Amino acid sequence: MSFHKPLDEIFPSVPDGLDARALDPAQVPAHVAVIMDGNGRWAKERGKVRLAGHKAGIGAVRETIRCASDVGVRYLTIYAFSSENWKRPEDEVRGLMDLFAKTMLAEVDGLHEEHVRVMTIGDASALPPKTRQAFAEAWEKTRNNTGMTLVVSVNYGGRAEILRAANDIAREAAAKQAAGVPFAPVDEAAFARHLDTADIPDPDLVIRTSGEMRISNFLLWQIAYSEFYITDVLWPDFDRYDFLRALLDFQGRTRRFGGVK
Ligand code: IPE
Ligand code: IPE
Ligand code: MG
Repeated sequence: MSFHKPLDEIFPSVPDGLDARALDPAQVPAHVAVIMDGNGRWAKERGKVRLAGHKAGIGAVRETIRCASDVGVRYLTIYAFSSENWKRPEDEVRGLMDLFAKTMLAEVDGLHEEHVRVMTIGDASALPPKTRQAFAEAWEKTRNNTGMTLVVSVNYGGRAEILRAANDIAREAAAKQAAGVPFAPVDEAAFARHLDTADIPDPDLVIRTSGEMRISNFLLWQIAYSEFYITDVLWPDFDRYDFLRALLDFQGRTRRFGGVK
């Protein structure tokens, strides 16, 4: 295991008290999931509208993607829009959907050059056509890439995802019953194959910014044994050194998965 670039290129000006050389390439989590929270509060602190916070958050997304890819993270999942975020004011929702479309179109070539594979989870069918198309084009362009997989969670809700899976399974079971196939119970692996994350390993590390101690309907099934890292930093201020802090913290955890160490 090794980093994709020299450490001092990935972390060129490490703040005092932080040691990038302590990062062990063998202990970098394979899958990091991020709840990018605090854009609204960041904007409010500056007397700006909420959408200005979302726009400022794009820089943090860019930096986190590059850093994760450089240190060898295999999957980076980012929570961009939840199935509950439709409750927000109409202009904020519209602004976010435009921002997703524009950002995806502007960033896809750079991501492709870095061999990143871009996919989405969540119910894309409810997205405005421009936004849906931008994500679909990013997937088409990058689907054969073998670098890091970037999973954008958009119109994603853990409960909705589990329900979609349960309904798929019920539909298949009804068809089998009609064909006279004897009942066979569904096990965890079979259930997981019906989730949006069918081909993605469970997250090792979940990061949430802005200090909130809750999961907000993110990856409910998949986080059964994930490690949590919560920072007070608001998402637009989150940078590679904050990401490094999370990775170093993760390295010090003892994961037992219910067993003993
Ligand atoms: C997270 O920031 C971004 C999205 C949910 C799209 P928020 O917009 O939730 O920011 P706060 O929580 O209001 O500060
Ligand atoms: C979670 O943040 C969703 C995203 C980061 C996209 P929210 O800001 O929507 O979560 P709550 O409402 O504070 O729980
Ligand atoms: Mg929030």
